Amino acid sequence: MRVEILERGRARVATSCKLNLWLDVIGKRPDGYHELRSLFHELAFGDELRLECEPAERSAVQFTSDDRGLESDPTNLCVRAAELWLAKRSAGAPRRIALQLVKRLPAGGGIGGGSGDAVAVLVGLETLARGSARREDLYALALELGSDCPFFLWGGTALVRGRGEHVEPLAHPLLAEREARAVLVLPGLHVPTRGVFAQFAAEAGQPFERPELEELLAARDWSSFQRALWNRLESCSLVAEPQMKTVRAALERVWPLPPAMSGSGSTYFACVGSEREAVHLAGLAREALPQARVVVQALAGARA
Ligand code: C5P
Repeated sequence: MRVEILERGRARVATSCKLNLWLDVIGKRPDGYHELRSLFHELAFGDELRLECEPAERSAVQFTSDDRGLESDPTNLCVRAAELWLAKRSAGAPRRIALQLVKRLPAGGGIGGGSGDAVAVLVGLETLARGSARREDLYALALELGSDCPFFLWGGTALVRGRGEHVEPLAHPLLAEREARAVLVLPGLHVPTRGVFAQFAAEAGQPFERPELEELLAARDWSSFQRALWNRLESCSLVAEPQMKTVRAALERVWPLPPAMSGSGSTYFACVGSEREAVHLAGLAREALPQARVVVQALAGARA
């Protein structure tokens, strides 16, 4: 995520999204959340957020977006992030905050679009107010906003555990290759996370195959890498949103490698070693799924 200070009290943030390259659900916790073990990777594909923050007589948060649905959403995570920042980080000084979001990422896509935006609000406001944003000052706020949010304070590649609170950055040589690309297929389906976890509970006791995360971490060629991508929630998402089966089947038919799913869906993706291969896979996906949005993105982009 890139923060650019424009002039006094105004900033622009290019937000990012994430892919779950590998995701296992260990079990349900007493607090109702699920214990996860997942390899997250940040992509420089996101929304554009503009922020204004200035002293005022009374605190107020104003939000506008080209996505009208978001403007009227009472659970809007950007507004909650700004309110939380006001309550915890503005030292009691009232401020007028205006947020303007140009939305490119889909909601419910499993790539952390809303979480990335919320963390962008925290980082943007903190940078405007203090000149810099320290991870440790924003961590508790991020976790309160959502399980995927702490990861966005680190970005890059990280092993994420707990419900998302333990973030351990790590490097993978393939993901740092300049030519490496992700091909994202956004089918426009909103898969409800809660519904997916409910299906996970319904599948309790059923046998399943789990490739080890270590295989992915040890992969040194793109074919082994793609074959080691795995997501425990995928079978659950295919039941929670049956149209996902059509998407997966279409990609299986045209792609030489198995498609991988991010988060709780609906985004499918592939990782390849060159732009040429990525453009080829993107073309095949567009032909097979004309309604889907297909995006090619540099895998190393977000840390550059
Ligand atoms: O934390 P967040 O608000 O993003 O989670 C949305 C919902 O997804 C939770 O209310 C919970 O039902 C489910 N969830 C979970 N375990 C996680 C993350 C999310 O059960 N690790």
